[in-house]
Amino acid sequence: MQDREFTAVPITPHVWWVGAIDWNIRDFHGYATSRGTTYNAYLIVDEKIVLVDTVKRPFFHEMIERIRSVVDPEKIDLIVSNHAEMDHSGSLPEAIDLIRPERVYASAMGVNALRDHFRWDTPVTAVKDQEKLELGALTLQFFETRMLHWPDSMFSWIEQERLLFSQDAFGMHLASVERFADELPAAVLEEESAKYYANILLPYAPLIPKLIERCQKLQLNAELIAPDHGPVFRRDLGPVLERYLRWSAQAPTDKVVIVYDTMWESTHRLARALEDRLRRLGHPVRLLSLHEAHRSDVITELLDAGALLVGSPTLNNQMFPTLADFLTYAAGLKRQHLVGAAFGSYGWSGESVKKVEDALVAMGVKVVGSVKCRYRPDAAALEACGALAEKLAAALRQNPGKE
Ligand code: FEO
Repeated sequence: MQDREFTAVPITPHVWWVGAIDWNIRDFHGYATSRGTTYNAYLIVDEKIVLVDTVKRPFFHEMIERIRSVVDPEKIDLIVSNHAEMDHSGSLPEAIDLIRPERVYASAMGVNALRDHFRWDTPVTAVKDQEKLELGALTLQFFETRMLHWPDSMFSWIEQERLLFSQDAFGMHLASVERFADELPAAVLEEESAKYYANILLPYAPLIPKLIERCQKLQLNAELIAPDHGPVFRRDLGPVLERYLRWSAQAPTDKVVIVYDTMWESTHRLARALEDRLRRLGHPVRLLSLHEAHRSDVITELLDAGALLVGSPTLNNQMFPTLADFLTYAAGLKRQHLVGAAFGSYGWSGESVKKVEDALVAMGVKVVGSVKCRYRPDAAALEACGALAEKLAAALRQNPGKE
């Protein structure tokens, strides 16, 4: 065996993983990728040789070296771009220059996205939904998956191998030498899948059950799911689909997430008082200070919660900046069916609680009340926290979205 810096990993007799492992990335456009990630590209070797997706631009050399461990890259006939985001098509121009493929394929929206990003005149062929491409022994078929999670997104499917290239869907940010999910600890897979779903796919949750139903109607009974990040799933795919259907329902639970920041500990004390009373009322509670917790971890905690409590001191007539950051991020991710409340301390003007409350209402959270206190919480403020916790618990019991 020839020694190489990077080699391909066989997925099936015809398909190789030729992606890249990004061990060191810790910020993925605002999402804390504490375990790094992979950019998965796949090589299909048939009469026609096909590269499915590429990698983030700095990893082009790694992808090419992995391809070279199977075939000379110049022997690749076709490139398929399932998704135009730059972590998958960033090295597409370099790949085209080196490979000089007969054709590059993308969805119609993908053709436009690639053109508008690269400002190029490189011809890219638009494939229609369900269009098939004969490769020899294998057939590659394309399925548009618009807004999962970009307008251009599509799946590619090899019927003979029952293999679905699912681009970002079913992915996770997890750098590992293991290429298959069944080689990794189940708890890590659950945690990273949930985080990925919560931070990438949550705004499009209503589309996911429809997509799974469509795949079932079209009899795409996959035995392998090969996403663009993280490991490949094989064998029992039931739990993978079950998780997506469960998260898409966004059914509220009894769990309460309290997220806050503090200047001189007063808002912190309110948060602790709320936590204590909710715990005594029997609720699982996660208390997260934005001084330590990352916005993307808070969103992950919200995925299986029923209530969101947000606390902020007032700073220069505004809510604290970390809360503005979190609420902006959370508004975009659109977690449904939550009840909630605002709380916070202040010295003289005290605008933060109203501003937080307004932001929660704008997000669609059913706000049941608030607690606001000047300087340190006194007995009256702590009593108000107890009353707010009781009100929240009652609202959770009556939440119509509850299972
Ligand atoms: Fe992994 Fe939407 O890019």
